[in-house]
Amino acid sequence: MTTPQGGFDISPLTHTSGPIDLSLPYTRSTLAHKSILITGGASGLGAAFARHWAAHGAHITIADVDVSGGETLVAELHALPGSSGHHLFCRCDVTVWEDQLRLFRTAAAASPRGGIDAVVANAGIPERDSAVTGRGFENPVGLDQDGAPAPPLRVLRTNMIGVAYTCHLAMFWLPRNRDPQYRKSGAGGGGEADERERDRHLLLIGSVAGITPLPGQPEYCAAKHGVTGLFRALAGSTFRHGVRVNLLLPYFTDTPLVPWQGMMFLAGAGLARVADVVEAGTRLMADEGIVGRALGVTAPVEVVGDGEDGEVRVVGGGERRGEAIWEVFAHDHEHVEVFVWRYVRLMNALLKVRGWVGFMGDLVRFAWFRRREESRREQSRREQSRREQRKRV
Ligand SMILES: NC(=O)c1ccc[n+]([C@@H]2O[C@H](COP(=O)([O-])OP(=O)(O)OC[C@H]3O[C@@H](n4cnc5c(N)ncnc54)[C@H](O)[C@@H]3O)[C@@H](O)[C@H]2O)c1
Repeated sequence: MTTPQGGFDISPLTHTSGPIDLSLPYTRSTLAHKSILITGGASGLGAAFARHWAAHGAHITIADVDVSGGETLVAELHALPGSSGHHLFCRCDVTVWEDQLRLFRTAAAASPRGGIDAVVANAGIPERDSAVTGRGFENPVGLDQDGAPAPPLRVLRTNMIGVAYTCHLAMFWLPRNRDPQYRKSGAGGGGEADERERDRHLLLIGSVAGITPLPGQPEYCAAKHGVTGLFRALAGSTFRHGVRVNLLLPYFTDTPLVPWQGMMFLAGAGLARVADVVEAGTRLMADEGIVGRALGVTAPVEVVGDGEDGEVRVVGGGERRGEAIWEVFAHDHEHVEVFVWRYVRLMNALLKVRGWVGFMGDLVRFAWFRRREESRREQSRREQSRREQRKRV
């Protein structure tokens, strides 16, 4: 369908949901019994998600390089009122493929759900060396010497390659969370949520640095723009696997990630609140109807005045007033160009063909199964009559 601007509206073809009405309430009850894997979950935002979701009955797997932080947190989750008692810590360096391979296998095997329902690609590190410290990416030294080492690119490897590994593994494990044994027996989960099609969710933790410039932090900024790119590509295609993908983009938030120098620059400017990041992430995680959407989280602001003249002011002093959660890329699929339109149409057509092939395959299997059963029955009838004849003789 073409739009008045001349592009194509592919929203219906990508099966994404419409813009989120943040004023509407949503239920957190869907969190109960979900098996959620959080990378970098031992501290900061990941730990805050884990505490909130575990308190609503989710089973949490924490993956982190910080062993003592991860183990302490898991012990805390077990003790929470409302906890499912199924929480796990896995030591995992997200930059190491083998670590992540083992992590996903372990999480799926340990899950009382028989699989992984949601993955949060959250692990990340800041760029300590920068233009100001005179070290790091922008300040190479000795590169005119033979054998000068390649740059470590630790931030890019953690915040981008690590996230890409997590997404790749999520696309393997999430669609496999329909263990028929589990569904029949209802073991471990129980309740309403197990009767319907299971939710599969990949939540990416990006950053406002994924849509704005962040001078002096080239690796961090490039990695977070990469995460935004991953989201924007996956959001239009993962419907084929029944996986919904969403993105969270926090502004500077008070966690161990932001060094004191960063806090100094931010003095008086207002930070995003961990509670608001958790609220935005929980909406995306718990509202299973939200597909392919991105939420930014800033310091709470209020608009004073109307229209063009409206002035945006940060609400300070921890006041509860003001808006902190905003939708980003809300119209991503509404005006795309011809290549994307044709590509997504082709994916839909292939999905239909796959559906028909699957249906035909089921019919053939059913016919073969019936024939085999009939011939077995026929054979046992013949054997029975032979036995009766022998008895008569
Ligand atoms: N705090 C902020 O201001 C802010 C703003 C925007 C986005 N973010 C993003 O939020 C995410 C979480 O950050 P946070 O603020 O909670 O920071 P944090 O430092 O509190 O937590 C990050 C966690 O990731 C873990 N980690 C680091 N490298 C790892 C690796 N290679 N493998 C596994 N785990 C590793 C750390 O041990 C730590 O537990 C990051 O992706 C970050 O970029 C944070």
